[in-house]
Amino acid sequence: MSDLDNINSSFKQKFNSIKSKDELQNLKTEFFGKSGKITNEFKSLGSVEADKRKEFASSLNKLKDSLTSQLEKKYLEFETLEVNEKLKDEKLDVTLPTRSFQSGKIHPVSQVIDEISSIFSEIGFSVAEGPDVETEYNNFTALNTPENHPARDMHDTFYLEENKKILLRTHTSPVQIRTMLNEKPPFKIIVPGRTYRCDSDQTHAPMFHQLEGLHIDKNITMSHLKGCLDYFIKEFFEVKNIKMRFRPSHFPFTEPSAEVDIGYRIENGRIVIGEGDKWLEILGCGMVHPNVLRNVKVDPEKYQGFAFGMGIDRLAMLKYGINDLRAFFENDYRWLTHFGFDPLDVPTNYRGLSK
Ligand code: DAH
Repeated sequence: MSDLDNINSSFKQKFNSIKSKDELQNLKTEFFGKSGKITNEFKSLGSVEADKRKEFASSLNKLKDSLTSQLEKKYLEFETLEVNEKLKDEKLDVTLPTRSFQSGKIHPVSQVIDEISSIFSEIGFSVAEGPDVETEYNNFTALNTPENHPARDMHDTFYLEENKKILLRTHTSPVQIRTMLNEKPPFKIIVPGRTYRCDSDQTHAPMFHQLEGLHIDKNITMSHLKGCLDYFIKEFFEVKNIKMRFRPSHFPFTEPSAEVDIGYRIENGRIVIGEGDKWLEILGCGMVHPNVLRNVKVDPEKYQGFAFGMGIDRLAMLKYGINDLRAFFENDYRWLTHFGFDPLDVPTNYRGLSK
């Protein structure tokens, strides 16, 4: 038997009993390492007699190719085996119940603000904002509520200075003024935000949330206001029919002014909004007073429109059956876990607001 035949048969013998990748690696080193059997044969090429060298080299190369390809094939077999083993262990059972990793909840007030913004954006309103700390001028005077006007007392204002020029806004209405001073008509905005009054009981908190609406354009009438509110209430409470009534009222910044009540009934101890023989006041509104428009340099002969204001916290309480307003602001984690919303479920008109 020639040297090469010897090498081949010893390889075969060892190769057939290989059981692991490590053993395979050792075999490879034994034949192809620095002083491996095949490597040595290549080293000895120079000493082979000239007339046999070519033939020997060719046989050696053939043997080398054959052994390497066997080694490679075996290596791949081990790889596949390993992957299959792993897959067996890491099999994913998609029918198992999900684990919940929710670590936070959306506060009902934030949820309701998102819902409201979504509803009004559908009919072309954009969201405007203003600061919590306001001037007395924007909060009252520009809104046609001059000094000594009784409406000022009704607001239980937190003044921040002795001279009563700076205050915590008592309503979101000053954002009407800011928007109209900074931009050109038409105006079509809603303003969700924090408001403050010196008042606290089961239904009043010193800090609460309001939603303001303002639509000023040419030829806007009271019927646009009615249509807009009818649409909003239905969408918000997710009902088909809503009984609504406008009661004459007074706000310095609107003329005429109205308060809006919606119908409801009690069913199994729960309030059902929409129809029934009971009435619930939910907002104030009216046609923007010409004096307000003049104060922001908008010509009331050319432009007119409506405004409305409502309490967001109250809307949230009504829609989600929450009884005590104070719980909203107590930061009780258990309360939030119960009444809060899934952060990944952003309200949209198409998917449903609160489902
Ligand atoms: N700002 C009023 C309040 O806080 C609510 C309000 C009533 C706003 C009528 C308006 C409106 O824009 O037109 O009591």
